Amino acid sequence: MGHRMVSFFKSSAASLMVVLFSVGLVSADSRPEVLERIKPVGEVAVSGQAAPASAGKVAAPVPAAKPASEGEALYASKGCAACHGPDGSKTILPVYPKLVGLPVKYAVNQMKDIKSGARNNGQSVAMKGIIAGVSEEEMVKIAEWLAGTGGKKATKAAKAKPAPAPEAKPAPAPEAKPAPAPEAKPAPAPAPEAKPAPAPVAAKPVPAPATAATGGDGASLYAAKGCAACHGPDGRKTLLPVYPKVAGLPVQYAINQMKDIKSGARNNGQSAAMKGIVMGVDDKDLKTIAEWLATQ
Ligand code: HEC
Ligand code: HEC
Repeated sequence: MGHRMVSFFKSSAASLMVVLFSVGLVSADSRPEVLERIKPVGEVAVSGQAAPASAGKVAAPVPAAKPASEGEALYASKGCAACHGPDGSKTILPVYPKLVGLPVKYAVNQMKDIKSGARNNGQSVAMKGIIAGVSEEEMVKIAEWLAGTGGKKATKAAKAKPAPAPEAKPAPAPEAKPAPAPEAKPAPAPAPEAKPAPAPVAAKPVPAPATAATGGDGASLYAAKGCAACHGPDGRKTLLPVYPKVAGLPVQYAINQMKDIKSGARNNGQSAAMKGIVMGVDDKDLKTIAEWLATQ
């Protein structure tokens, strides 16, 4: 009996800690130098330029446990765990992304874009102070470690294939996949300033007529809307190494990103490739898809 009470209090205390971390946003890592760098900064160095003042403080002590790789050590010493969790799989807030298993090239591009400000949607600013003190070489090491912790070996492909041009080119249409239901495609976007409207990308074969999927569950919506063409049938195997794995993302983070890509608030990297597709998906369906993806 006494033992039960004790473990009850222990687990209550643990829950309380979680709540406190969430409320405090960044207190999962309480080292002063980490807290200092976590604070959003206004100006951030762009690639190739000297990093701002915070770079001087990056030589944070690596915590006790000896890391297995340089990437893991950097992830710990730079303070990434404070928001993305100790191994990148458990975020402190539901609007923060999980990082495990992301394709290396995609992850590095996002880090660079958040650093330069090219990606500035949502909560990106929360990460700016930290990433300002991380070099591109360090980003690659961290990304390689994160890709490995996801249990996937997506990194080989990322290195072998040349990355597509970084500027917003029309979506690389996955050739040889005839669009099964052209009428279900969103009318090509209200073309964003000067950018070519993304080519509607052919969807993977849709099991049923696309119209039948409206209001359906997340899996069938995901298939019917053509998401699989770029993110893979279950959100894990991406068409290109610069595309993100979407399986297992926190629901609210995924919804926010899809809405931001739709509205143009997020327009970095290859976002334009997805815009034409997501234009044809309403908020209710986005939520249904996100809830399904989180379980994948
Ligand atoms: C203060 C919290 C915080 C810290 C510390 C932080 N990040 Fe982030 N990170 C975020 C948020 C928030 C986003 C998503 C921004 C948005 O809302 O769009 C993000 C996005 C990312 C992404 C893109 C993920 C995707 O799916 O697009 C990568 C990669 C990433 N972070 C890596 C890192 C690394 C590596 C570190 C340590 C050097 C780090 N982050 C430190 C909050 C943080
Ligand atoms: C033509 C290819 C393409 C299609 C089709 C596509 N996406 Fe994407 N999606 C992308 C790319 C590329 C990005 C990342 C943009 C960048 O920053 O480079 C992305 C980003 C995302 C993100 C944010 C991931 C993160 O980690 O931040 C989510 C969630 C997402 N897509 C879900 C979907 C869903 C759901 C569909 C179907 C309704 C879909 N996508 C259709 C290419 C595509």
